[in-house]
Amino acid sequence: MTEVVLGVSGGIASYKAAELLRLFTESGHSVRVVPTESSLHFVGAATWEALSGKPVQVGVFEHVDEVAHVRIGQAADLVLVAPATANILAKAAHGLADDLLTNTLLTARCPVMFAPAMHTEMWENAATQANVATLRARGHVVLEPAVGRLTGVDTGKGRLPAPAEIFRAALSVLEGRVQDLRGRHVVVSAGGTREFLDPVRYLGNRSSGRQGFALAEAAVARGATVTVVAANVSLPAPAGVTVVPVVSTEDLRREMHLAAVDADAVVMAAAPADFRPAEFVDAKIKKTADGTTPEIRLVENPDILVELVAARSSKHPVIVGFAAETGDAHATVIEHARAKLARKGCDLLVVNDVSAGKVFGQDDNEAVLLGADGTVEQVPFGPKSALAHTIWDAVVRRLD
Ligand code: C5P
Repeated sequence: MTEVVLGVSGGIASYKAAELLRLFTESGHSVRVVPTESSLHFVGAATWEALSGKPVQVGVFEHVDEVAHVRIGQAADLVLVAPATANILAKAAHGLADDLLTNTLLTARCPVMFAPAMHTEMWENAATQANVATLRARGHVVLEPAVGRLTGVDTGKGRLPAPAEIFRAALSVLEGRVQDLRGRHVVVSAGGTREFLDPVRYLGNRSSGRQGFALAEAAVARGATVTVVAANVSLPAPAGVTVVPVVSTEDLRREMHLAAVDADAVVMAAAPADFRPAEFVDAKIKKTADGTTPEIRLVENPDILVELVAARSSKHPVIVGFAAETGDAHATVIEHARAKLARKGCDLLVVNDVSAGKVFGQDDNEAVLLGADGTVEQVPFGPKSALAHTIWDAVVRRLD
């Protein structure tokens, strides 16, 4: 049985840690809750004792004979602090040890993960950002806070990610993923863009964003700082990633160029519309009395992948494209894909055979990874998360 230490620090989101605790205990993990003194203003020790079935201690001077300040950290398989306030991040970054949780953080030899939650101003403060950078550089996983409603009527970045999403991220860390993307910034595009004809109608495509989100989640588990530029994705965002929502190919293009500036790797998993209407009509296009139908003239959108390749300096960042291909009378799927890889100029092309209507909106996928260096890797049919890790394996090999 894995031993999880759930550190709870004093933010309003600490009530959500109760649900997180249940997710762990119901899936067979043993959880020891270590709250900070101030978190008890929000959720009392009785709640944690009842839900975890274990005693709760805040300071280091109770049950001194049990040497809890050393033993709890030593025995843990994962220490997860959720919510993590600016204060606990600061204490952890500087190695303070004035209560049981901070002592536990210093004695832990296992993976340590923080799910920060605070007001946007506190998160963006240079001191907090420096502390987060320090913790990440030490190999700890610090999830990015979600964007949304904060304590009062205000909204912004700083919200605790959903307990189910923190739980998923924690499980991947528990699986013992090597932190081979630690200190790296990766940018993933996901979903399908929409090109509006008038205020209500658009040209779109069937991309769900599942593969892009699976890539983001896998990269977080491997220690990366992750930005997802998400085009019309209706799935819950993976915990710990920065999501930039976009609508059109032009929006996606702008945000990808911005995010790619300091990226170590860029994966274009989105399906941008190749064409857009030449004109946008401000008012809804009406049916006519004589039944004549409107002509829609299309113009071609820029190829973002080609632009990102052209904009990079030498081989940095590593750039990955996707290709949904069908074979035809002239060439096989792989032959078409090789030609596309050469045209796009990226380092890797993830090739999906979509002849049989597979892939879109499904949880499983199969693919071939083509490398610009001539490598060919067949990825068997399986979950999109498995393909995501295979793609990151290939990216990591090309990073240095
Ligand atoms: O040319 P094709 O659409 O098959 O190429 C697919 C790859 O190119 C994907 O990685 C997709 O994200 C990217 N792409 C792009 N900009 C476009 C169209 C596709 O970056 N306008």
